[in-house]
Amino acid sequence: MAALSLLPALPAASLPRTEHSWGGVEFFKDITLQKQRERERRHFLSMLAHDMKNPVLTSIGFLTRILKGKAGPLTDAQRSTLELVLEDQRKLEVLVKDFLEYSRLVNQEDKPVLAPFSMKDALDKSIGSGKAKYDEKAVQVAFDKPAGDPIIQADTIMINRVITNLLDNALKYTNRGGKITVNPVDRPDDILVQITDSGAGIANEHLPHIFDAFYRVNPKSDGSGLGLSIVKKIVEAHGGKIWVESKLGEGSTFSFTLPKQDVRVAPGERAGTVHCSTGS
Ligand SMILES: Nc1ncnc2c1ncn2[C@@H]1O[C@H](COP(=O)(O)OP(=O)(O)OP(=O)(O)O)[C@@H](O)[C@H]1O
Ligand SMILES: [Mg+2]
Repeated sequence: MAALSLLPALPAASLPRTEHSWGGVEFFKDITLQKQRERERRHFLSMLAHDMKNPVLTSIGFLTRILKGKAGPLTDAQRSTLELVLEDQRKLEVLVKDFLEYSRLVNQEDKPVLAPFSMKDALDKSIGSGKAKYDEKAVQVAFDKPAGDPIIQADTIMINRVITNLLDNALKYTNRGGKITVNPVDRPDDILVQITDSGAGIANEHLPHIFDAFYRVNPKSDGSGLGLSIVKKIVEAHGGKIWVESKLGEGSTFSFTLPKQDVRVAPGERAGTVHCSTGS
């Protein structure tokens, strides 16, 4: 739409009617149509996810009641079958909720609600509350606490989601006995946070896609592949950047920045995402 609306502003004489320039108009039309189709597709998918949420929640409620014996006693076979169904319904619930969150961020329906935010506190709390998970896998978490603690303007819930997602991934893709390092750096214009793991690493060919919705290196792995796409949208909505450096078999470092000033991205604009690797 934006591309087409530029055309009437150009004087007719400045548009030589060569085969090439008419091709340009066709090209603009194609892009407009493509964008409209993409919008419609996104709208349809978010409506679908929205309409799926309630039936999924209702069936989880019923299954839970039945498993508690509220509908009468169950045989062992019935119980184990219903437990499998419940597990699948819970996965579907996470998928639907993640997709709705992703859609709201893409459609800019969810905008950051800015308030004073301490990165040091947020990292501290997130690492502390995950202790049981790290201990269970004997993964050591080293938090390089910064000397200073600059207070920035950020959406606490959203940034906590970013931290949790990146830490969960670091844990998920790191073997027993591995190590995760969390390193916040106070820089003149922004705060840089780096989360490094000694895990599986990511091969070069996957790095450019890692932040795409539904992308998973191993399609059979648990998870929807929405986590990093949500993280990216949140960081960009705050005017920050996110990127990954990884070496297959050695581990990965996910880094993101948050500006110290309120430089949220205006609708339609995008902050950059950088992909880089140190080999695979
Ligand atoms: N720290 C990491 N080390 C190795 N691979 C990673 C790491 N973080 C992400 N990945 C790869 O990137 C893919 C996308 O990550 P993302 O968090 O978006 O999805 P997910 O973890 O598969 O599912 P979920 O939606 O539950 O988070 C993962 O499937 C995994 O292959
Ligand atoms: Mg994940």
